[in-house]
Amino acid sequence: MRTLIQGGTVLSTTGASRADVLVEGETIAAVAAPGLFGTADEVIDATGKYVLPGGIDAHTHMEMPFGGTFSNDTFETGTVAAAWGGTTTIIDFAVQPKGSTLQPTLDKWHEKADGNCAVDYGFHMILSDVNDTTLKEMQACIDAGVSSFKMFMAYPGVFYSTDGEILRAMQQARQTGATIMMHAENGIAIDQLVAQALAAGKGDPVQHGLTRPPELEGEATSRAIRLAQVTGAPLYIVHLSASQALAAVAQARDSGQNVFAETCPQYLYLSIEDLAKPGFEGAKYVASPPLREKWHQGDLWRGLRTNDLSVVSTDHCPFCFKDQKELGRGDFSKIPNGMPGVEHRMDLLHQGVVAGEISLGRWVEACATTPARMFGLYPRKGVIAPGSDADIVVYDPAAKQTLSARTHHMNVDYSAYEGFEITGKVETVLSRGRVVVSPSGFSGSAGHGKFLSRDLCQYLN
Ligand code: URP
Ligand code: ZN
Ligand code: ZN
Ligand code: ZN
Repeated sequence: MRTLIQGGTVLSTTGASRADVLVEGETIAAVAAPGLFGTADEVIDATGKYVLPGGIDAHTHMEMPFGGTFSNDTFETGTVAAAWGGTTTIIDFAVQPKGSTLQPTLDKWHEKADGNCAVDYGFHMILSDVNDTTLKEMQACIDAGVSSFKMFMAYPGVFYSTDGEILRAMQQARQTGATIMMHAENGIAIDQLVAQALAAGKGDPVQHGLTRPPELEGEATSRAIRLAQVTGAPLYIVHLSASQALAAVAQARDSGQNVFAETCPQYLYLSIEDLAKPGFEGAKYVASPPLREKWHQGDLWRGLRTNDLSVVSTDHCPFCFKDQKELGRGDFSKIPNGMPGVEHRMDLLHQGVVAGEISLGRWVEACATTPARMFGLYPRKGVIAPGSDADIVVYDPAAKQTLSARTHHMNVDYSAYEGFEITGKVETVLSRGRVVVSPSGFSGSAGHGKFLSRDLCQYLN
């Protein structure tokens, strides 16, 4: 089967050029000047459109047990929504429950995902119980294609690790080449602020933001960086939201340390004002770290330009407003933490291009090429080049759309971006050569998506 994507502008990290893309089977066969290829079984007219590598969302939580419930997208519904939004790879977090070990955790995540995904997928491991056994199992995880491990300085009693446990895991990561991903918020201090707010009768969603100040993200980020420096482990800060944390990352990067960070669209576009919406509406925006004051956003965009923020992921973790966020009415600490977003990342970051915040090349880099390199998938993923998987998005930069829960495909009853007017729209999506989204709708299937065994980070100094 030969598919020709003709007449478009092919995007890469270095910019844009007019070219045709020939797909044979599941991979890209060739990229050449317009008109050089003959005919094909299927021709996709991309005139006036961008042709870019399929998005890689390196931070999702499908069917995640959290806050007394489960995030509401299954691997099927979540990957179908991803495809609609031009994301052709997700990396989801397998969650080690305290008291359990890593292999059964991995087995469980395979059970949930295998045969159910519409696009390709990989896993990171959440390490929530560090001991001799689990430290040894890290190598087996790497051998099984899971080369990154998320740890938490937040959520005491749930996923939290002490500095000593983090240090030990980092020592192991240094030896094996694995990446430690860090949820950097000082959970011990935050828990005190939460208890004080609740004792003072303050239970509204906005308290979620007020009790998790940006300084405590900055502090934890600095501490994680120092622990990584002492051990020599590569460190990747997840869902960075605060200017204070960004400053710590920038300083570490300037000194040559293997420190990387991602931010998420919600921190670029939403703020604590959304958390403060009346009538419990703010619960829709409860995620950790919390939405910040608006002034942080300018710094985050700058971080994206300077590559101190290398990746944009979504931290997609959807909980329905009606029956799940409701668990925390009157007590913000019981609102399940997380927001939906896997479908909108490419569109929302394209607004950064439209607004002149980032270049087209940075859009592709932060959403596809860098996550591929960061998590050992390059050049199979993240680039339009001969031999790479034919994960391709045809994007209409001039189309207009309005985001809404009425039209999105995520399995959640609200949109955090309700009414957002977007310039640009995904038109056609190929996943390993197969058209899964086109102007006539979704044509993929659950089970098309394959597990991706990943290599180590491809950026280390
Ligand atoms: O609030 C969030 N971010 N929920 C998902 C879990 C995590 O910490 O990434
Ligand atoms: Zn986290
Ligand atoms: Zn710098
Ligand atoms: Zn997360």
